[in-house]
Amino acid sequence: MTVETESNSINVAIFSTAEEASREVARRIAGAVNRRPDGVLGLATGGTPVKAYQALIGMYRDGKVDFSKIRTFNLDEYIGLPADHPQSFRHFMDQQLFQSINVDPERTFVPDGLASDVAQACSQYEAMIRDAGGIDLQLLGIGHNGHIAFNEPGSAADSRTRQVALTDETIENNARFFESIDQVPRHAITMGIGTILEAREIVLLALGEGKAEAVKKMVHGPITEQHPASLLRRHRNVTAVLDAAAARRLA
Ligand code: GLP
Repeated sequence: MTVETESNSINVAIFSTAEEASREVARRIAGAVNRRPDGVLGLATGGTPVKAYQALIGMYRDGKVDFSKIRTFNLDEYIGLPADHPQSFRHFMDQQLFQSINVDPERTFVPDGLASDVAQACSQYEAMIRDAGGIDLQLLGIGHNGHIAFNEPGSAADSRTRQVALTDETIENNARFFESIDQVPRHAITMGIGTILEAREIVLLALGEGKAEAVKKMVHGPITEQHPASLLRRHRNVTAVLDAAAARRLA
């Protein structure tokens, strides 16, 4: 299904290297925290944000940003992995960011991959985001098939936090983090596209040539649920921060 919209542009910021693009994302996140020290960040996992989180840790150590009052909500989590599983997104966030900055662990939220009532856990997650006042800045990556968080192609533009089945392609892509492909969970909890579009500002980071086609479709292709990232063009304040390789196919 193709979705027609009136405003359909996305800001694009291109940097020659992944390091520079990542530093730019860190600067934007730190800027949001400094503007609203008790605000709410939406955070992402995957290989892409690692350097941005390192840059953010550097800024924290240099005294340029204080996370003590901030609240964070992560996009997604695998179903079936406990928080301390090395491949859980909660574990990733603790290792890659939270334990190296002064965020209060009690104010960091990741969907619960072991929830006994998943539907209830999802609506509770939505309520917690609402009660926190909504997300000020949401960081995103992009999948090769245009997925954002775990909203795979076909996800509804107004979808909310829910349980989803991962596509074979996503399972294959994420197998690199596991010992074998059989260990990759088949299901996840993800914020919905509707949830993501409610963030006041969205920053999508894409690095490397492998993302160039997905980036091109996001920026220039039809706005369609078949390429979830293209739905971001419905939002007023989205910036795609790219390295030159990811920007290669943009006209
Ligand atoms: C994952 C995540 C997404 C992420 C994407 C790309 O499966 N759920 O949030 O943006 O795939 O991952 P990577 O940054 O490793 O390429």
